[in-house]
Amino acid sequence: MEQRRRFALVGTGNRGTTMWGRDLLAGWSDHVELVAIVDRNPLRAERARAIIGSAASIYTDLEAMLRDTMPDLVIVCTPDDTHDDIVVRALESGADVITEKPMTTTVDKIRRITDAEKRTGRRVDVSFNYRFAPTAARIKSLLDAGEIGRVTSVDFHWYLDTSHGADYFRRWHAYKKHSGSLFVHKATHHFDLLNWYLGSDPEAVSAFGDLQMYGRKGPFRGPRCKLCPHKAECDFYLDLGANPFLDALYEEPSAIDGYFRDGCVFREDIDIPDTMVATIRYRNGVHVSYSLNTFQPIEGHHIAFNGSKGRIELRQFEAQPWETPASDEILLVRSFEEGGRAVERITVPHSSGGHYGGDDRMRNMIFKPATTDPLGQRAGSRAGAMSVLCGIAAFSSANGGSVVRLADLMPELFSEQSERVLKAV
Ligand SMILES: NC(=O)c1ccc[n+]([C@@H]2O[C@H](COP(=O)([O-])OP(=O)(O)OC[C@H]3O[C@@H](n4cnc5c(N)ncnc54)[C@H](O)[C@@H]3O)[C@@H](O)[C@H]2O)c1
Repeated sequence: MEQRRRFALVGTGNRGTTMWGRDLLAGWSDHVELVAIVDRNPLRAERARAIIGSAASIYTDLEAMLRDTMPDLVIVCTPDDTHDDIVVRALESGADVITEKPMTTTVDKIRRITDAEKRTGRRVDVSFNYRFAPTAARIKSLLDAGEIGRVTSVDFHWYLDTSHGADYFRRWHAYKKHSGSLFVHKATHHFDLLNWYLGSDPEAVSAFGDLQMYGRKGPFRGPRCKLCPHKAECDFYLDLGANPFLDALYEEPSAIDGYFRDGCVFREDIDIPDTMVATIRYRNGVHVSYSLNTFQPIEGHHIAFNGSKGRIELRQFEAQPWETPASDEILLVRSFEEGGRAVERITVPHSSGGHYGGDDRMRNMIFKPATTDPLGQRAGSRAGAMSVLCGIAAFSSANGGSVVRLADLMPELFSEQSERVLKAV
């Protein structure tokens, strides 16, 4: 019988508690055993342990946990700028690591992680669940099969609504030092999808970003929603008490660490853009036009691949003032010699579970040993590094106004892989 991997969960916010705690044990307990829970906030860790339904020991000190329990695997679900310390210490203790995205937030932190991985010979997985969504997998198969010939450009636009988008401005994500900005925190998913779809690396980025709705642009502000005198007039008022799950995990525990889940989205010191565009040139010559908007009346994305023999187009619906379709429709438009054209409408039914079923498929890939990976969906530290680097370059370009070459930021990431990249051209 297969030996179960003894894992420690570090970070018991919503993501850690559900995806890598409760749901992992519910579906994959033949493969894993939770041996420890770590969080700076012991009350949140206790609440999480009850939700997960585990008897694992709780720690507030990572070192003590590593010493006492010596896990085979550490799963990192803390704020983005803290990932590197935890990943490095876990690798040095002899454990493998799964880290939530983004892998980290700065070039120095990327180096710390990739150096530690090399030094220890352990493995880092990065949680790029969007690669595992059935529609994304289908698009990747079509591209790899050459259905539209050589891809020449991509139009990629992502929309967050006033619920999901605003959530990033309530908490630590709203500060560059913690999240790297949404060019890193959120767009890491999107840049990773592009890198994976195209089988190449981003080479140069030019970007703009601005704060148009949140932060100092707000009409008024308060300490936090619960105590705010502007509740009645604020479009972004959040009643955390209306969500018993989030209330239990965040409200009383906030008395220990002052970490409020319902911070004011109009805080004056918010220092990241909420509206972003970037153009990216890939090493295989593909040009990408990308945007991310965070206060739309809809949630979802548009993506189109323009190729030498056709075009693949998708409008994925996630939330909007009409019913979400039960499936996605990929439009595959082929062009033929002498001007002929044909369209194929490919229906991909939505799967249940988080991120269009991507979360479940990713856990299968990581934990079920017999799962094969023909599309290269499982992502490691290089993919984690490359998508973060693209976001760092975009933020830097948006602030400096110039085109930023990724190899100037981290040359070693490119020289190591030049052969692979040249093959992909
Ligand atoms: N893959 C996805 O689709 C996806 C979705 C949501 C969140 N995430 C990622 O998951 C991570 C966690 O997100 P969240 O929304 O649960 O965050 P959160 O802020 O709600 O929870 C983070 C937890 O980490 C704890 N913590 C902070 N610093 C710590 C440290 N040094 N050591 C131990 N504990 C520490 C906090 O007390 C808190 O309980 C983030 O990196 C986020 O980007 C990924």
